[in-house]
Amino acid sequence: MKSFNILIMNGPNLGHLGKRQPEIYGTQGMDNLPAMLKQLMGDNAGRVTLQHFQSNSEGALIDRLEATRADGTSGVVLNAGAYTHTSLALADCLAWIKIPCVEAHISNVLARSEQLRQRSLIGRHVIGVVAGFGLMSYALGVQALAMHLQEREE
Ligand code: DQA
Repeated sequence: MKSFNILIMNGPNLGHLGKRQPEIYGTQGMDNLPAMLKQLMGDNAGRVTLQHFQSNSEGALIDRLEATRADGTSGVVLNAGAYTHTSLALADCLAWIKIPCVEAHISNVLARSEQLRQRSLIGRHVIGVVAGFGLMSYALGVQALAMHLQEREE
């Protein structure tokens, strides 16, 4: 497998994972991710360089996404939090920068009680969606993205 730079992006209210509503979002923080990835991908995990960016601000997320055009990022695993359901601006950004992107959610948004969470404005601009596996959603997203990028190279 080739080497890839993957950016994990977390949107609003995802800066305190492990502490925020653990009954929904679990007790594990992002620091557990490398170990999970190793469990999932074995030695291939070493081929993936992970960066992490979190912001509560829509504009900062868009600025960071735009920066991927010039900073060697191979792909993005994006948990846009509530902006998933509301941000046309984030969707517009993904539509034109065209970075390979996986949408990730810790909870199974389709099974949540609020109907609004079942709608994703960014969904049409991503390769695929992983939801409902807790922190493992990010690891699965990274693995799927790395395999997608690898296939594209071949
Ligand atoms: C979330 C689901 C969203 O509906 C919510 O607003 C979040 C987190 C998830 O990871 O399950 O902040 O994206």
